[in-house]
Amino acid sequence: MGKIVTITSGKGGVGKSTTTANLSSALATLGKKVVAVDFDIGLRNLDMILGLENRVVYDVVDVMEGNCNLAQAVIKDKKVEGLHFIPASQTKDKTILDKEKVRKLLDDLKKEFDYILIDSPAGIESGFEHAIFLADTAIIVITPDISSVRDADRVIGIIDSKTEKAKNNEEVEKFILINRLKPELVENGKMLSVNDMLDVLSLPLIGIVPDTEEIVTSTNVGQPVVHNQKSEAGEAFRRVSSFKHRSRDIFYLFNPFEETLKHLSPCSRSCSTQSICSTYCGRFYTCGFFMSVVSIDSIYYLFWLIIFFTNLHPNIYMTSWHIMC
Ligand SMILES: Nc1ncnc2c1ncn2[C@@H]1O[C@H](COP(=O)(O)OP(=O)(O)O)[C@@H](O)[C@H]1O
Ligand SMILES: [Mg+2]
Repeated sequence: MGKIVTITSGKGGVGKSTTTANLSSALATLGKKVVAVDFDIGLRNLDMILGLENRVVYDVVDVMEGNCNLAQAVIKDKKVEGLHFIPASQTKDKTILDKEKVRKLLDDLKKEFDYILIDSPAGIESGFEHAIFLADTAIIVITPDISSVRDADRVIGIIDSKTEKAKNNEEVEKFILINRLKPELVENGKMLSVNDMLDVLSLPLIGIVPDTEEIVTSTNVGQPVVHNQKSEAGEAFRRVSSFKHRSRDIFYLFNPFEETLKHLSPCSRSCSTQSICSTYCGRFYTCGFFMSVVSIDSIYYLFWLIIFFTNLHPNIYMTSWHIMC
């Protein structure tokens, strides 16, 4: 049976569709059979991010209304083996979704696919509850601004109370994905830090995606950035596809050794171990930097002391004194 992963947010425009396209592509590249379903009825755009807009004939509402069968609506990506897509309706209203029809659709998809990724409308919009209520996992996408974090907090409350799992006293697995982070602004204190956001939401982090033009260009050409091996954003999405808790340390965003450290870690699923590894790596660099400064200084003073105490020729003494000055 497949796993239903809903990509959601409180605020609109934070990167849900971008995340759905990249995560589904990454999972399919890993050999999984994946279907990305656009539940943002009336605001279809996942088809464009995946570069499949010209192949849309039927949509998710057509399947639920019985205008076509499931196989007719599912579009198979020709570039990525295992990637499938069901578009949202562009013309219908979000209120058209019906709980039992959604359940039937998702039950059918679960039999056929390893992962069903649902691109949800934002939490404040209608249709959101249908996208979330059968989820096994929810990825809550936020951007580093107060309103996005506050709205996400509200959405987490809804997930914990209105999903089927919540009604059966089970818990939906929840992760935070931070999108559009600008590390240089965080360092200057001009943007909310990862800790600021996670302290409010108290949920595990699944990844941090930097704000980059690469996403905009990849969206325009219909080729998810995850296929670009040189892209930092692509790397960030590839990491998300492992569904592991990540360290809060944004250092690892640009740290080429983090993956190596993670594999060396005795318990690769453990949040704390990864966190410690990543932090150690950060400390290692910092220590390395100071050590090198200290060691250059020590060689310098040692040189000066040798000359001073051995009372060498005054010319050499003067030369070294000039170098020092
Ligand atoms: N990491 C990023 N860096 C730069 N632009 C981004 C990033 N993530 C998303 N965007 C842009 O933000 C806009 C909204 O993204 P989208 O995925 O459609 O959001 P949502 O589905 O939540 O409404 C799009 O134009 C997209 O290209
Ligand atoms: Mg969207």
